Amino acid sequence: MKLNLLVVAGDGIGPEVTREAVAVLNTVAELEGHEFSVTEKRIGGIAIDTDGTPLPADTLEAALASDAVFLGAVGGTKWNALPPNTRPEAGLLQLRAALGGFANLRPAFAVAELAANSPLKSEIVAGADILFVRELLGGLYFGAPREWNKSTGEAWNTMRYTRDEIVRVARIAFQLAEKRDKKLTSVDKANVLEVSQLWRATVNEVAAEFPDVTVEHQLVDSMAMLLMTSPRNYDVVLTENLFGDILSDESAVITGSLGMLPSATIGGKVNLYEPIHGSAPDIAGKGLANPLGAILTAALVLRHSAGLEAEAAIIEKSVRRVLEEGFRTPDLARGNTTDFKVLSSTEMGKQVRETVNEMLTTETI
Ligand code: NAD
Ligand code: IPM
Ligand code: MN
Repeated sequence: MKLNLLVVAGDGIGPEVTREAVAVLNTVAELEGHEFSVTEKRIGGIAIDTDGTPLPADTLEAALASDAVFLGAVGGTKWNALPPNTRPEAGLLQLRAALGGFANLRPAFAVAELAANSPLKSEIVAGADILFVRELLGGLYFGAPREWNKSTGEAWNTMRYTRDEIVRVARIAFQLAEKRDKKLTSVDKANVLEVSQLWRATVNEVAAEFPDVTVEHQLVDSMAMLLMTSPRNYDVVLTENLFGDILSDESAVITGSLGMLPSATIGGKVNLYEPIHGSAPDIAGKGLANPLGAILTAALVLRHSAGLEAEAAIIEKSVRRVLEEGFRTPDLARGNTTDFKVLSSTEMGKQVRETVNEMLTTETI
């Protein structure tokens, strides 16, 4: 099959992890005779420095003309003093809005061998497998009015949702729940916020279309606690934009590291794929970044934009296998490090590619 992928690697560790993810895609393409063409463009801080804007017009044009967009990460200390609408992060938000994907899928699963080294007790995390469905185009991120009025010393943002925006993301979450454990947990703050009351009422309406799926509602504050005490109780977790941002980073504790979590944004003109972590300025340029979240994101490209489910599953199995074999990037090497083989980002990428290669040549798909 043919796939035109636009790669916007961005800042900090973005290029370091993206390189490994693209290399895994190339391994699959070479072994199976697919034509994945990769175009690279600038986004984020690097684009501010060279083009004066975090989302240059040619990047946006190439994104809209592609079959899928892969983003590494944007942002960094150099651009922290800029106001929100001109920062590197604004480029990402503009790209999300232009591509139109509103359902951001963030799978988080625990690998048994990693659970043993998790900050949480292994009996709590082992076997946890959650799919966050985060609404990505509404809420505080895009609501108007928004302003910091420096003369009065006030600032405000608006958490706004329409019923239709909730219906469309809820339907995707229910459809995904139907194919998994048929359990959906919707997260809100309906004890305080009108927007959450609309959210809850609308999710209940959509639930009637999916009688096989059990629905429960959780308030976001206690959900933050429940995810840590009983992560295995959750299957699909549906959230508005900011709650999903926070809870999905929290779930990094279940997987062992923020560097383990992938995402796919679907429902718009062009799907957008991003590991959920940021540019990690503290470790950038040192070869320490965990590329597995980006590599798992590459698997999502194959699943959601290329129709290559078997190949996607092989990448996911390969990631599990290298972890089972004791390979770790430093972020995952907790506890007794003599038990692990600690690898750099590029060594970890190579390890996964070799495993993918082996699985693709020995398994019938
Ligand atoms: P971050 O995700 O960059 O880092 C948080 C912590 O996790 C750091 O200690 C970092 O070293 C670690 N970490 C993150 N990814 C890792 C990986 N792959 N391997 C190993 N360790 C990893 O979050 P932050 O420090 O709060 O933000 C830094 C910048 O990134 C900010 O400018 C922020 O806005 C931006 N950001 C961008 C994205 C994105 O582009 N999608 C997402 C989140 C944050
Ligand atoms: C993420 C990031 C982004 C978000 C930022 C960088 C705009 O934190 O993808 O999780 O808040 O959505
Ligand atoms: Mn985030």
